[in-house]
Amino acid sequence: MGGVVAFVSSGPGDPELLTLKAVSRLQTADVVLYDDLSSGGILAHAREGANLICVGKRARLPSAKQDHVSRLLVDYAITGARVVRLKSGDAGIFGRLEEEIATLRAAGVPYEIVPGVTSACAAAAAAGLPLTRRYTARRVQFVTGSDVSGGVPADLNWVALADPQATTAVFMGKQNFHLFSAHLMEHGLPPTTPAILAQSVGHGSQKLLRSTVGKLAQELSREAPSSTAVILYGPLV
Ligand SMILES: C[S@@+](CC[C@H](N)C(=O)[O-])C[C@H]1O[C@@H](n2cnc3c(N)ncnc32)[C@H](O)[C@@H]1O
Repeated sequence: MGGVVAFVSSGPGDPELLTLKAVSRLQTADVVLYDDLSSGGILAHAREGANLICVGKRARLPSAKQDHVSRLLVDYAITGARVVRLKSGDAGIFGRLEEEIATLRAAGVPYEIVPGVTSACAAAAAAGLPLTRRYTARRVQFVTGSDVSGGVPADLNWVALADPQATTAVFMGKQNFHLFSAHLMEHGLPPTTPAILAQSVGHGSQKLLRSTVGKLAQELSREAPSSTAVILYGPLV
């Protein structure tokens, strides 16, 4: 009998934001491969004796290679193991899920995806805000602020990102926000547009910094560079 892989969304870090299905998959897993953003109290739901393997790859730090992680999933699954691949936030958002799925498909390993709470939604909730509003915030967009080289992606749709009637969540955008915000303002977004830097959402060290698109880049230089953050901007923020 072959094994199976469950891609389990761990939410932003607060174990109470795990879904019941996520907890159930953790409780029955033989092997759990987790990112460093999915550790802590979340792993406490894994059963005693499960093999817990950290495959974290924080930006600009030495890390497990993607091919290696995909290979590990197949190698454990073909031994018949129930494998959980734990990913932070929602597994389907900026988590390179597609590459891991492609390897499983090529090897004929069955998989399921357990959705969860993305850090963007958790950040809005922590700030006490909705992401949409009738008439004035009809659209929500999730965007990555950095590409594989660490720079701002060259092919972003700046017209859409500068839409004053959209709420935008920028993932992995803290380091580059000075460049990112300059592009937004060049494309007409008012510098007074409200923005929030939401750091370590769902962790004990959670911190929300309320600012504007025009001022945030400067204020960011005073924040710890290593803390994980998502930036929200738009009419509601
Ligand atoms: C590789 S992406 C994964 C996103 C994840 N799948 C999600 O839905 O939140 C990592 C980025 O997500 C954001 N992020 C993840 N967890 C976070 C948290 N607890 N607080 C703030 N931002 C977080 C940061 O922008 C971080 O650089």
